[in-house]
Amino acid sequence: MSRIKDFFSTIWHFLITLVEGFQALFWLLIKGTGVLSREGKAGLRGFLTAPSTQVMIFQFMRGFWPNLSLGRKLIKSYDNTGTAVVTRRADVLDVLNRNEDFEVVYEPRMRKLTDGDNFFLGMQPGWDYTRDTSSMRLAGRMTDVPEIVLPRAQKVAAERVAASGGVIDLPQDLTLHVPWDMTATYFGVGGTEAEMQDWTTTLFWYLFGDLGADPDLDAKAMRNAAAMRAYLDGAVAKQKASPDGATTILSRCLALQAAGTPGMSDLGIRNNLLGILIGAIPTISKASCLALDELLRRPEMLRRTQRAAIEGDDATMANCIWEALRFNPHNPVVYRRARRNTVVGKGTLRQTRIDKGQMVFAATLSAMFDRYEIPNPKSFRTDRLFSDYIIWGYGLHTCYGAAINEAVIPAVLKPLLQKKGLRRAEGDKGQIDTGGTPFPQHFHCVFDT
Ligand code: HEM
Repeated sequence: MSRIKDFFSTIWHFLITLVEGFQALFWLLIKGTGVLSREGKAGLRGFLTAPSTQVMIFQFMRGFWPNLSLGRKLIKSYDNTGTAVVTRRADVLDVLNRNEDFEVVYEPRMRKLTDGDNFFLGMQPGWDYTRDTSSMRLAGRMTDVPEIVLPRAQKVAAERVAASGGVIDLPQDLTLHVPWDMTATYFGVGGTEAEMQDWTTTLFWYLFGDLGADPDLDAKAMRNAAAMRAYLDGAVAKQKASPDGATTILSRCLALQAAGTPGMSDLGIRNNLLGILIGAIPTISKASCLALDELLRRPEMLRRTQRAAIEGDDATMANCIWEALRFNPHNPVVYRRARRNTVVGKGTLRQTRIDKGQMVFAATLSAMFDRYEIPNPKSFRTDRLFSDYIIWGYGLHTCYGAAINEAVIPAVLKPLLQKKGLRRAEGDKGQIDTGGTPFPQHFHCVFDT
């Protein structure tokens, strides 16, 4: 009986995915033509990169072309022989799980940033990866999140929102400051605020977003990395010479060093701190801005989220934020490179060959909308399992800061969501301005005081 049910369920999902593929195609043609005739090619670029358009592009692909494999190279920043895109959830998770077939590519740029060694996000499974992630998870513990990180983030965010007087430029006044404060008070290596925010933004962009290998960005990244290394070397030496007694990731690293832990030399500590700093600041800021941006586009959902924030129903408020990030995630894809000739979607109608060296975009955004596994993917729901979301990676390299993100992003947004009359500022100021970077630089909101 259950086999017959499975059979009909598969046919049903196949047909509906196909119909939705057609719908997406028409939507893209009608909207795209409209944008092109009104705003020309420049407008089309913005249209194609908008999250709502990406949702439709992937919807089309899941219906007609779930796995795309091209000889054409789209990424210049890392060696590759071509490009592939996988869109079905099963294949996305498969690619991110098969480390022997699909490798992380970041090693050469990581080595440029440290001026020598790799960082664990650039490593394949093995001793180096195990050594560094183990020691950094002892230095930055999950239990620190409720005990140290969350109370501080709540306090700082509340102070910032209160001080804004009802007009707030999110990145500048709130969403960059809270994670920076975490790097200062909890990591123990915040440096100078504006400088650290600038360094980490540039270096994140260089590592993950510079697909075209821009020489100017390369030059800026090298300057920033050198400055950041010098600062971190100084901070490690200073803390070692005269410990300040604070419980920080840096002080824990030095305690591990004193205990003879492998990988915790001064240089090892510096490089690990450099890596986690790059991941921490611009990401939390961007995700916080995108979540609020999405909620502001959905007045009913904004009201529901605000009600939860005001009533202290943190679980519902957080669920609304994760759902907003499903529609508007920090990164719509994670990429890997094929280590040998292989296939994705093995034994299915969508089986596709991937050649050694091809860069594979695992479309995590698409995976979160795949109706084969996500119930009612197009509805904004607050009762989804957290495991339905892929908002900070998947598999071996799932974000080191996952527990921090889960606590800090709601903490950043909550005091704002509690404000009556929360809305965008008038005109362009109320829209996210990335200032030519991949990260929000300005996004003005107002609320009643
Ligand atoms: C909303 C905020 C964040 C987002 C969206 C995000 C996103 C991601 C993603 C997608 C990955 C996987 C990359 C890949 O597999 O290629 C990742 C890994 C990583 N993230 Fe985050 N991240 C965030 C915050 C943080 C924070 C706060 C930290 C530091 C405390 C951090 C440190 C790292 C590190 C070190 C890795 C590598 C993990 C490994 O290789 O095992 N990230 N992050």
